[in-house]
Order: sequence, then C-alpha cells, then structure tokens
Amino acid sequence: MTNTMKSLLALCLFCGAGAVSTAETPVRHTSFKPGEIWTDNNGVHINAHGGGILYDKGTYYWYGEHKVEGDAGNRAQVGVHCYSSRDLYNWKDEGIALKVVEGDNSHPIAKGCILERPKVVYNKKTKKYVMWFHLELRGKGYGSAYAGVATATKPTGPFTFLKAGRVNPGKWPLNMDKKDQTMKTFKGVPGLTSSALPEGVRSEDMFKKDFEKGQMSRDMTIFVDDDGKAYHIYSSEENSTTHIAELTPDYTEHTGKFVRVFPGRFMEAPAIFKHKGKYYFIASGCTGWAPNAARSAVAPRIAGPWTELKNPCVGPKAGSTFGGQSTYILPVQGKPGKFIFMADIWRPQNAIDGRYMWLPIQFDGDQIKLEWKDEWKLEDM
Ligand code: DGJ
Repeated sequence: MTNTMKSLLALCLFCGAGAVSTAETPVRHTSFKPGEIWTDNNGVHINAHGGGILYDKGTYYWYGEHKVEGDAGNRAQVGVHCYSSRDLYNWKDEGIALKVVEGDNSHPIAKGCILERPKVVYNKKTKKYVMWFHLELRGKGYGSAYAGVATATKPTGPFTFLKAGRVNPGKWPLNMDKKDQTMKTFKGVPGLTSSALPEGVRSEDMFKKDFEKGQMSRDMTIFVDDDGKAYHIYSSEENSTTHIAELTPDYTEHTGKFVRVFPGRFMEAPAIFKHKGKYYFIASGCTGWAPNAARSAVAPRIAGPWTELKNPCVGPKAGSTFGGQSTYILPVQGKPGKFIFMADIWRPQNAIDGRYMWLPIQFDGDQIKLEWKDEWKLEDM
C-alpha cells in the first residue's frame, strides 16, 4: 500500500461514516428516501421525531421531538426542534422552538420530562402560533397523561409554555348515551395488564375512571378544519379509546365539547386529514416503540360516525407499517388531493437515530392505500 493510499484510508476511517450527530457535507436532496438518514442544511440528520408540519406563508415548518443519544434520549433533554423548507426535501435547522426548563425539576416541562408528538397550528384571530404536545411530568413514567400548550408570535418560536394538564374534567362526551352519563353506578375498573379491556369492563367505565380529574391525553395531533375550528385528537382512557375534542377560538383551551371514537380499540399515533369533504384517520395499535399494523377510518363529519377501514399498508411488511408508526398527514400545497403520510421508524435504544418514513397517500375508493417506496418524488404523486 502506498503512503497516499494509507492516508486516504485513515481519512475515511476518521470520517466515521454513518454517525448521526456528526455534521457531514450538506447534500441537496431531490427525492424522499424513507428510512434513510435525512440530512439538514448543516449535513446533520434531522432531529424532529413524532413530528408535524405547519405551512405558513410559502414555507413548511417541521416540528418534532429533539432526541439525544442512547435510551435516555427518549426523555426530553432539549425540547421541540424546528426546521423550515420550501420544497419538502431540503430542511434548514431553525433551532429549538420550545426549550425544556433547566434548574427547576418541579416545572411541568422540566428537563427529563417526556414531551412527545408536538403539533403547531396558526391562529388567524390571535395571530399566534399554537403548539400542543403530549406531556409526562418528569420522573412519573407515562402516568400523568397530560396535554401541554405553548404559543409564539413567530413560527420558529421561541414558544412560551402556557399550561399542561388532563383534558375536559367533569364533562360528558357528546356521543355518550344519556343513561350512561352518571357516576352513581360507577364501581371502579381494574388496572390494565394488556392492550385489551379487562373481561367484563365496559369502555364507558374506562372513561368514568377519569371523569372528575380529567381525561388522559397521550399520543395526539391537532386538526384545523376549513371553518377555522381546531380539534385535539388524542389517545385517552389508558389508550383504549380516542377522543376528538374541540378547541376554543384561540386554540389554547378545550371547549368541553368532544366525542369518544373507536372505543376499546387501543390506538396510538393518530393522524387526520380531509379529502373531498370526508375526514380520514390513520393510527397505530399499542405496542410501545415496536411497530404494528396501521389502522384507518373515514367519517362524513369530524364528530363521526367513524367507520374503520382496512390496514392502509399493502405489500411486504404491511403488517408492521413497514417498520414505522404514523405521526402526521401533510396536505401538499399546490397539489389538491395529494397527501403525504409521515411516520417514524423508532430506534428506542439510540433515540437520535430514529428515521423518517414519508410515503404518498393513495386511494382505492374510500380506502387509503400506502405502498413502500425506496425513493420517490413529489411529481410521482
Ligand atoms: C408509542 C407512542 O406512539 C410513542 O409516541 C411513545 O409514547 C411510545 N409509545 C413509548 O413507548
């Protein structure tokens, strides 16, 4: 081996190809490559997991969980990361839009809390950007099941934390039978040991368990309808049932009007979109960080009735959503009727190495169809 070859080899080894946190030479992207490292304008793997996208004045903003290395990376050490793009392939790092609080462990978003699935919407009345997220208080595992909210005057932040808590305490769902709307007959429910309702337990009783203190809110998304009304859609009742709850006109509170949907179906990772006047829903089952088969549903109105459809994925690995889990459905600007299914391929042992899986949504009548693609472009839609 010549000296020049030896130096080249040493240089290659030194580069450490594949490191996620190290800046590589920035690359101009011209396609989506699901599951691969996706670098930003600095050549660093995008760090916005469980994310969602806001389109604002010609620019897309991608918000997601900033993860760090190792399994501790699943707890919030930094905050919500924001990126911007005009073409959806190339993303500029805009920094941390909502920072966790350091030095005060009693703060709801203290460093080390669990802060997941942030979603940002713009409120035309207040001219504020409103971020909602799933929050678990520091040191309490997944027991808090809070929804948190923060606002900003610019899409890139900084977002100011407003509050967090359980949802709609003391309120009955619009679609619960009147005869069920009483706590008089409620005798408690046993703890869950699996993702199934215990023998003999009615899903209405899972709801009543948290009637007074407020409903649990874990995996979530926010949807703004054409009439400007916003909805918080979240896994509730120990993830057994999904709630769709209306937000106030400024998008920072719940109005108390909500429906329970897919009772006892144990879904996580809800994502929703509207197409030709109908509402479509994609979610996952409940298996922690491990992938499972996606669910889908359609409704004529956001409050339902919702009809469950088939697993939207087709082809090899359809039974595990191609290794991913839904997080958001993005309407592509300038392409009416075109939507991108956004999903995470989690790497819980090294959270920062989680990958993104964006796939085009296809329809077969009412049925949503997702097919794996190694590489694709917007013009393929
Ligand atoms: C699945 C959820 O969808 C994720 O957001 C996260 O909460 C994991 N469970 C934790 O196991």
